Amino acid sequence: MEKDNIVILVTGASSGIGQAIAEKLASNPKYIVYGTSRKASDSSNRKIHMLKMDVTDENSISNALEQLITKEKCIDVLINSAGFGISGAIESVPVDVAKKQFDVNFFGTVRVIQKVLPYMRAQKKGIIINIGSVAGYIPIPFQSMYSSAKYALESLSESLRMELAPFNIHVCLVEPGDTRTNFTKSRMKAGREEIEALYNPASKNAIQVMENDEENGYSPEKVAFAVFKLLKKKTPPMRTTVGLEYKAIYVLMKILPTRLKQSFLKKKYTGNCKKIRE
Ligand SMILES: NC(=O)c1ccc[n+]([C@@H]2O[C@H](COP(=O)([O-])OP(=O)(O)OC[C@H]3O[C@@H](n4cnc5c(N)ncnc54)[C@H](OP(=O)(O)O)[C@@H]3O)[C@@H](O)[C@H]2O)c1
Repeated sequence: MEKDNIVILVTGASSGIGQAIAEKLASNPKYIVYGTSRKASDSSNRKIHMLKMDVTDENSISNALEQLITKEKCIDVLINSAGFGISGAIESVPVDVAKKQFDVNFFGTVRVIQKVLPYMRAQKKGIIINIGSVAGYIPIPFQSMYSSAKYALESLSESLRMELAPFNIHVCLVEPGDTRTNFTKSRMKAGREEIEALYNPASKNAIQVMENDEENGYSPEKVAFAVFKLLKKKTPPMRTTVGLEYKAIYVLMKILPTRLKQSFLKKKYTGNCKKIRE
């Protein structure tokens, strides 16, 4: 017999895309929505149950899940949205900071998935939605650590989908393009100043372009709507790119020769900064 309620956990639900997803899903009376944040705060939406979780801390993930399972006895859908971005030239970003980027955006997602899977396997069903990014298939200059972590998440999501198919657990990747959230304000400018200066004005230009694109991007509700629609599907697809132009860019990135792709991206992000200075 089909059960009536669907229990959903959204990581990174205190802001931006995760918050918009939690709010949209909570509008469906069948969905019981839990959201996470590193701060122990209540949501202004009384239908969302907030849990304290830091995705870099195994105990924190276990504690949050224990609270959810004690109350609901199951978890049907996991949506991994917690994340942040760093910028800087590859040469100038300290490896420790790059590791932090992967620790939150990539390994943070892995940790939560690992903790949730025993429950989903026991239930013999579940849906895992990872929030990727168009930056996972567009290698953006001066945001390479972020792009690389999202690229890794793409690969992980595709492998995981195959591994979990026999358990009736679906894995999906939702890829937003530029979206207006606190992501822009929270971006860590991680480059060491003296080295970063050698890459200017290209580096400054690229970061400015990213910030402008995000500030003029979609509202997070558009991503939330895509997730809402995804959950209605009997067999949710592997990949959902949000926004028509990003769907077109995805196809272009797959078919264009690297030379053309690089020429377009270089022009867009670094403008006319061609020459390496003496
Ligand atoms: N904005 C864009 O243009 C865009 C485009 C494509 C993809 N994305 C992706 O969308 C996701 C959400 O980003 P957003 O745009 O919504 O940014 P946001 O508004 O800054 O929200 C980030 C969320 O992640 C949480 N978070 C950050 N570090 C965390 C940690 N260590 N443990 C647990 N939670 C953590 C934050 O919660 P607390 O600070 O309360 O803990 C917050 O709820 C990210 O994965 C991002 O890469 C964003």
